[in-house]
Amino acid sequence: MSKKKITGIVLLTALAIIQFIPSEKPKVDDSNPSDLFATTNVSGSVRQSIQNACYDCHSNESVYPWYSNIAPIKWLVYHDIRVGREELNFSEWNELSKLKKVKFLGKITEEIENGEMPMEIYIPLHPDAKLSVTQKQELAEWTKNYAESLFLKQ
Ligand code: HEC
Repeated sequence: MSKKKITGIVLLTALAIIQFIPSEKPKVDDSNPSDLFATTNVSGSVRQSIQNACYDCHSNESVYPWYSNIAPIKWLVYHDIRVGREELNFSEWNELSKLKKVKFLGKITEEIENGEMPMEIYIPLHPDAKLSVTQKQELAEWTKNYAESLFLKQ
């Protein structure tokens, strides 16, 4: 057998074996009464941007493409979703206090403007998540207006 063939078989076997390593898949839940979109009036295009660029990691409605369930990719994907939800979960948005909301709205703009979110690694396989300059401006405008409205309303 050629060296290449042996390497191929070893790699495939390793790939098969690591599929059995347990790793907990973050659950999907489509019923989220405190969801941002369910509780707040968000304009169509802003909603679209947030849904496309953020919801896979920052909501309970993560969509798992087939490859995201194969080790070793799934270890990265599950980790990012778990940690992403812990940091900020749009499905639980309305459970946050006004102050927390304002804090997150500021962070959201900051992360987007610094190009830190959505995560770089996510974009090649999710082209819809790449935000244009206009979409970023629109999001910044939205977070600013929303934060202001939270202070105005009693
Ligand atoms: C591929 C998964 C993924 C996507 C997509 C994603 N995030 Fe994140 N996000 C994370 C992870 C993981 C963390 C925690 C680690 C970190 O800060 O890098 C995080 C952290 C954050 C934080 C908290 C940062 C802090 O310092 O407290 C904010 C705010 C945030 N993301 C906003 C967004 C927004 C807005 C989008 C969409 C434009 C988005 N994220 C898209 C995975 C993701």
